[in-house]
Amino acid sequence: MEISKAQRQFFTRNLMSWHHTDNDRNLPWKSEKDPYKIWLSEIILQQTRALQGLPYYQRFTESYPTIRHLAQAPDEEVFRIWQGLGYYNRCKNMLATARHIAEELKGKFPSSYDEILALKGIGPYTAAAISSFAYGLPHAVVDGNVYRVLARYFGIDTATDSTEGKKLFHQLAGDLLHNQDSAAYNQAIMDLGAMVCTPQKPDCENCPLQKHCIAYHKGIISLLPVKTKKLVVKTRYFHYLLLTNNDKLWIHKRAEQDIWENLFEPLLIETSDEVDDITATDQFKRLKLNEGLEYIGKAKQRLTHQLIHFSFYRLHYQPANHPLPKDGIWVPLKELNNYGFPKTIVSFLEKIFYF
Ligand code: ADE
Ligand code: SF4
Repeated sequence: MEISKAQRQFFTRNLMSWHHTDNDRNLPWKSEKDPYKIWLSEIILQQTRALQGLPYYQRFTESYPTIRHLAQAPDEEVFRIWQGLGYYNRCKNMLATARHIAEELKGKFPSSYDEILALKGIGPYTAAAISSFAYGLPHAVVDGNVYRVLARYFGIDTATDSTEGKKLFHQLAGDLLHNQDSAAYNQAIMDLGAMVCTPQKPDCENCPLQKHCIAYHKGIISLLPVKTKKLVVKTRYFHYLLLTNNDKLWIHKRAEQDIWENLFEPLLIETSDEVDDITATDQFKRLKLNEGLEYIGKAKQRLTHQLIHFSFYRLHYQPANHPLPKDGIWVPLKELNNYGFPKTIVSFLEKIFYF
């Protein structure tokens, strides 16, 4: 595929001038120069939209003004603040990296692209963002926004998730980068992708790239970008028993190697199919918790690769009857907010127990 130099120059020039004159997206980390805070914002924004991530960024920077503060915080406290952002591995890696920098690097954030890329929880996208925003290094960000803007403007129908596509888009992104001001360039393309060249109904009438945008002129915007793989979504059924005993709730910490690693949850029975009568399942029979079971409601949560159907039941625990799994603890209802829970669970618990 041939892309003319004029086509590329128009892109960078118009994107930059739009950024300096018309881009009114106002986010607190945009003027930030502290690499620690830039890193925090980028970790929070990895799988979260900017507006949703904003209050979390504020809470983290207020609670932990420096990387040493974060490194010294107890796990549970940090997980508690993270609660609601999901993808808890991000939080775990973030803590590991904060402690690594505090302990091994004397609290000083690394300042080269390769050293930044080597940190836990940081891939090429985040490394490019941090090295450009914090240090002005010439690395172009490539994420979903960038694939979309480039695929449309240059009319590229190579699949963005193919080996060939990744190479092509990374190469092109690097060519387009404004080397003298990589920070502004990267912020500009992210903001254009988020506010103008959006996935649905892009605002082409107010787009600084419209004049030479190939997708716009050919009328193929909705066909770009192209992906080969379809997302495979696994459906799981989580049945939670809220076991109470003298104003205490039984909870345990979720195991590693699954979603919500290290967060807490009530007693769980998981099935791969929908079940009409939970007390008929093998797991339930093994636990023999059927006396006085009360159904209290259901919910659904969509993760990138999983769809979780929740149902909640309540039961007053009878000590004589049934030994419970050994890894659990009885927590007073008033103290539940000292524990991190997945967000669907916490909103249910709050509704039921008013803590
Ligand atoms: N998403 C990831 N990084 C971002 C940033 N710096 N500004 C806006 N959205 C982002
Ligand atoms: Fe995207 Fe429309 Fe701008 Fe083309 S003209 S880059 S499709 S917003």
